[in-house]
Amino acid sequence: MLSNVLTYAHKLLKESLIEGDIAIDATCGNGYDTLFLSQAVGPSGKVYGFDIQEQAIQKTNEKLQENDCQNVLLIQDSHERLHNYIEENIFGGAIFNLGYLPKSDKSIVTKAPSTLAAIEAILEKLKSNGLVILVIYYGHPGGEEEKEAVLSYTSQLDQKVYQVLQYKFINQQNQAPFLIAIEKKKRS
Ligand SMILES: C[S@@+](CC[C@H](N)C(=O)[O-])C[C@H]1O[C@@H](n2cnc3c(N)ncnc32)[C@H](O)[C@@H]1O
Repeated sequence: MLSNVLTYAHKLLKESLIEGDIAIDATCGNGYDTLFLSQAVGPSGKVYGFDIQEQAIQKTNEKLQENDCQNVLLIQDSHERLHNYIEENIFGGAIFNLGYLPKSDKSIVTKAPSTLAAIEAILEKLKSNGLVILVIYYGHPGGEEEKEAVLSYTSQLDQKVYQVLQYKFINQQNQAPFLIAIEKKKRS
């Protein structure tokens, strides 16, 4: 059976993250991905969760507490400033959910310049066979521009260093979200 985009995102990350890894949720939102990453890297790993909205940080924190997750640092700041917070030099993987926080202020959205800056910063420190997953929602004002910028950037990544996959249901209506997975190749 074909997985939906969010399930597929977790499936891919689960295959590449190992216990003890450093993982990044670049857009915590309601915290579903943060919780998933926390469980995937286990107590010996660490997750850095970013969101610019206080509401998102609070919701994510509640979810983590309900599940007794102790290995997450939540940061209310833009993901492009992640180097101000993360000391470790190798990242196991990361996820971005682009767009706005569901049932919240739809004018607060991710934007291409900061999204691309954060992706670039993470790729520099990504482990071999590590993944950066982008779940791209683009039906909102500004979404199309961000989608185009992300597709343009990711499709031009050096194929000697990265493999870039697009996972998309091509018969879905209404600008359904799709996924881009960037894998850093193993150094030969
Ligand atoms: C689609 S939602 C994330 C959904 C989330 N992953 C979940 O599981 O519920 C996008 C989130 O990105 C956040 N955001 C927007 N710009 C950001 C930025 N520059 N840095 C970090 N978070 C940002 C928004 O506040 C919003 O909560």
